[in-house]
Amino acid sequence: MTKKVLITGGSGFIGLHLTRHLLATEPETAITIVDNFSRGKDDSDFAEISSNPRVTLLRGDLTDNSFYTQLDSDYEHVYHLAAVNGTKLFYTMPHEVLRINMQSLMNMLDWHRTKNAAGKFCFTSSNEAYAGGLSAFNQLPIPTPEAVPLVIEDPYNPRWTYAATKLIGECFVIHYAAQYNFRALIVRPHNFYGPRAGYDHVIPEMSGRIAAHTDPFPIFGVEETRTFCYITDAVEAMSELMRSSKTDGHPVETVHIGASDEITMGGLADLLFEIGGWRPTNIEIKESPAGSVMRRCADISKIKSLVGWEPRTSLKDGLKKTYDWYIAHPRKL
Ligand SMILES: NC(=O)c1ccc[n+]([C@@H]2O[C@H](COP(=O)([O-])OP(=O)(O)OC[C@H]3O[C@@H](n4cnc5c(N)ncnc54)[C@H](O)[C@@H]3O)[C@@H](O)[C@H]2O)c1
Repeated sequence: MTKKVLITGGSGFIGLHLTRHLLATEPETAITIVDNFSRGKDDSDFAEISSNPRVTLLRGDLTDNSFYTQLDSDYEHVYHLAAVNGTKLFYTMPHEVLRINMQSLMNMLDWHRTKNAAGKFCFTSSNEAYAGGLSAFNQLPIPTPEAVPLVIEDPYNPRWTYAATKLIGECFVIHYAAQYNFRALIVRPHNFYGPRAGYDHVIPEMSGRIAAHTDPFPIFGVEETRTFCYITDAVEAMSELMRSSKTDGHPVETVHIGASDEITMGGLADLLFEIGGWRPTNIEIKESPAGSVMRRCADISKIKSLVGWEPRTSLKDGLKKTYDWYIAHPRKL
């Protein structure tokens, strides 16, 4: 029998790569994608997957209750990726970030528990759910494991609205799954990067400046370190966790997905200069954005012990593929 998978937010960054991965690795699987294209693009990359006969596209808004009659009730795996993210939107429409992310999740959970309860539900949380603890108390362990306090540093600051939806979202998934007895998984992506990730991130921004030979070249928070997990590794991690019976029990497992090799922002720029074959004569060192932390790095020992997954793509290889994609697809002004 064909396995059925539902991916919400399937035209977005993770959704597109996850769909590609499942099409390539699970030849019997049929995939239904739901998206309202508020952020995801109906571009040539998406056309390549949505034209696959094993893919069904449903255009719809998950905050709309009436949409759910279009869904079947026998999806083995449900990946709930749809959400409003992107730091700029936290500031311009914080009330909508809260409404859309929470209403979509609530509707999805109510649909799942009543119509699809034999399936397994994956909620994509974020490292933002605990990031407040890093900056507010400066005492979380780094690399940071899953079991740390989740913190909203300041409810008046719109920056924390997205984190709030992930924090409350995790609580909903844990307690709905227990109460209504369905299988569920919470993943916390840590800086996934790769082609088609949007333009408002450090890697596309640096790549664009290298292509434009911006000199002096600004680097924000040059000494701060981050880790970057290449998207093909990341979606493999998500699907392996969903396939594993080790994440079927209660309470729901929360699992960090990320890379463990830290690099400074200055080091990242250096690698991209090498890949781009150009180097500025002057670097303009800029203050990092308010609330930024010196180090952010996931402890990934839990996913290693659960499914044996570790990132496989070196930062240099992943950056090269990402840089090439952004050079071929510059931001449209
Ligand atoms: N990319 C990362 O590194 C990262 C890090 C932490 C968490 N996450 C989480 O992973 C998930 C996927 O992230 P992404 O980077 O692919 O984001 P994305 O913005 O590229 O994709 C999200 C998709 O959801 C769709 N969507 C939004 N609201 C919708 C609605 N009401 N109805 C239907 N579709 C809707 C958008 O159109 C978009 O295609 C999100 O929940 C995000 O918060 C991602």
